[in-house]
Amino acid sequence: MAHELTSPSLSDSARSCERPSRPGWWRDAVIYQVYVRSFADSDGDGIGDLRGARERLPHIAGLGADAVWLTPFYASPQADGGYDVADYRAVDPVFGDLADADDLVRAAHGLGLKVIVDIVPNHTSDRHPWFLQALAGIGRDRYVFRPGRGPGGAEPPNDWESVFGGPAWTRVADGSWYLHLFAPQQPDLDWTNAEVRAEFDSVLRFWLDLGVDGFRIDVAHGMVKAEGLPDIGHGQQAKLIGTQRLPFFDQDGVHEIHRGWRRLLESYGPDRIGVAEAWAPTPERLALYVRPDELHQAFNFQFLNCPWDATALRAVVDDSLRATASVGAPTTWVLSNHDVVRHSTRYGSPARARAGALLMLALPGSAYVYQGEELGLPEVVDLPDEARQDPAFLRGDGQDGLRDGCRVPLPWTQDGPSYGFGPGGSWLPQPPQWQALSVEAQSADPSSTLELYRRALGVRRDHPALGAGEAVEWLDGLPEGVLAFRRRPEGLGGEGDGGEGGAVLVTLNTTDREVELPLSGAPLLSSAPPAPVLPSPAAEFTDRAAQGHNVRVPADSCVWWAI
Ligand code: BGC
Repeated sequence: MAHELTSPSLSDSARSCERPSRPGWWRDAVIYQVYVRSFADSDGDGIGDLRGARERLPHIAGLGADAVWLTPFYASPQADGGYDVADYRAVDPVFGDLADADDLVRAAHGLGLKVIVDIVPNHTSDRHPWFLQALAGIGRDRYVFRPGRGPGGAEPPNDWESVFGGPAWTRVADGSWYLHLFAPQQPDLDWTNAEVRAEFDSVLRFWLDLGVDGFRIDVAHGMVKAEGLPDIGHGQQAKLIGTQRLPFFDQDGVHEIHRGWRRLLESYGPDRIGVAEAWAPTPERLALYVRPDELHQAFNFQFLNCPWDATALRAVVDDSLRATASVGAPTTWVLSNHDVVRHSTRYGSPARARAGALLMLALPGSAYVYQGEELGLPEVVDLPDEARQDPAFLRGDGQDGLRDGCRVPLPWTQDGPSYGFGPGGSWLPQPPQWQALSVEAQSADPSSTLELYRRALGVRRDHPALGAGEAVEWLDGLPEGVLAFRRRPEGLGGEGDGGEGGAVLVTLNTTDREVELPLSGAPLLSSAPPAPVLPSPAAEFTDRAAQGHNVRVPADSCVWWAI
């Protein structure tokens, strides 16, 4: 089977066919996350790079995504997979150079894909020139340096813990301490410093001038710390994180920074966006990040964290939609990313993962797809310790320390070194079972997860009721564990004619049994693959729907119906 490589001249042809932007494109966009070091490797060093990503862009365009988000590819010692930036305007040689970044942006635009890049403003690398100067006693007020407590200042300035484990403070040679909410190689910047703000405005302009369409803002909830850096209380942090505001997360002061960035983005026109990676304790607090004068999107981690439970899922959907509607913003759904266990493993089965994807893609708003979820990749849970690179793992007791398992390089082909990831090996070992999950193996197999995603994004595009449509209308009185809701295109009062662009009914069965529902509709797409011997569910649904009978919905499935 042919590889999906593009010719080296793609960039030139791309320039000639750039598509005009759809206003508000981001409101219902499907955005594909490329974790650059694990996506595609062009030079055989085992680490993905920008050229490799450019060559594989047709996969993303062919899937039907609207945009790509690229994780950090800037100059970095890679103490945290590039989230430790030493030069925000340079590409790390391991990923290529600025010309590669430029080529990638142009090639993506040529394929109709927007490009969002990561920006890491909470902290720099400890190799950033500013931090090297700070160690030498110059410009320390760009970071958070404080004297220690206790005899001789030998205790950290407060009781904050690093997200990766251990104290959030490290002592330097002259006896003072600096703050790092993440690894010691990631010193926190002090955002009360005007020079820090001006520098990031300049960095954003640098990438906007290069043509990027927006930024995913790393730790968008962390840049401002509570006045006086108060203690949290012994042993409290782990209990409170995620459920309450902490003195270093979700402080009100961050919003003024985001307002400034919104103005900066708008000075480049209405189409450049900011998406907040913000962990807020409630949907209401999260919605503050997407007020009309702030960022455009904020990842809905409450949805990501929700278990495979119909009641809980319905509550999260309702709470999220209510909160974002209160500020006039769409909701931004996500199930997987480079920091969490893949949802195929979290949900406990590939069938549920496929159903979860169809649920997500049927909800109003934007959706992010993490590379490899379209292949149904599971978390790799048995990586050898010596292969792991997550600083959380290396520091021992922070987070879960297991983020390498969702970062294993993608399998593209059934044969060849690293299953087509690149001409050499891969920086994390790929399980042999991934041969059968490769893009090549799944392409053209109608029962594959890859084909399901391709069809889902196509149907979503043809049916504005999905994504862009009006609010979710729940149907009540269904069996336990089963949800159903209608989506109508904007401005359409009654039900559609069942054809393209009409209203859509979505059924979600989270139980392990097939259920019969008193509903009718013509099946558009089902997450459950056709049974090998029995008539396919689609045929079954069609006959029954045509006769106005109940429909049978497979276990652990999501089905879209035209109504
Ligand atoms: C990124 C992580 C990173 C952390 C520190 C996160 O939110 O997604 O991968 O380790 O920020 O930059």
